[in-house]
Amino acid sequence: MFKRFLVFLFIFLLLTAINLLPSHAEELTPLKKGEKLYDSNCAVCHGDKGDGKTWVSEDLNPKPQNFTDPKVIKTLTRKRMIQSITNGREGTAMQPFKTQLLKDEIELIVDYIRAAFMKIDAKPEKKK
Ligand code: HEC
Repeated sequence: MFKRFLVFLFIFLLLTAINLLPSHAEELTPLKKGEKLYDSNCAVCHGDKGDGKTWVSEDLNPKPQNFTDPKVIKTLTRKRMIQSITNGREGTAMQPFKTQLLKDEIELIVDYIRAAFMKIDAKPEKKK
């Protein structure tokens, strides 16, 4: 009877320990989260490299900007990007994302675009 109790206790402690391990999702840095969101929501039109060269963009008028172009980088402030993503750009393929993404998610994507494509180090990645 006591042996059984010990086995039970062992399993209980093991499960608790597993639960205490950090889950994979929590290990993602803000930039990684932004990258994932960008890949699933934006890359079809804006491209994996952010240069807007995708097969979808060929048929668009106006075309998605090339985020790596110095001229584009100059005009696109962080604030303007958040605004354009939230409310879209009227008369273009750029749709408002305010009903699909949370405010925080939009900011994560903007920070990813700025760091990865525009090479602006506004918010350096937090080291864990
Ligand atoms: C269906 C294609 C498409 C998708 C999907 C798309 N975009 Fe766009 N995006 C465009 C086009 C086209 C423009 C150019 C609009 C213009 O010229 O004003 C644009 C413009 C932009 C701009 C610049 C707007 C400005 O102020 O000039 C940003 C920033 C942007 N997109 C970010 C995103 C992000 C982030 C996502 C994903 C959440 C996304 N886009 C998804 C097509 C798309």
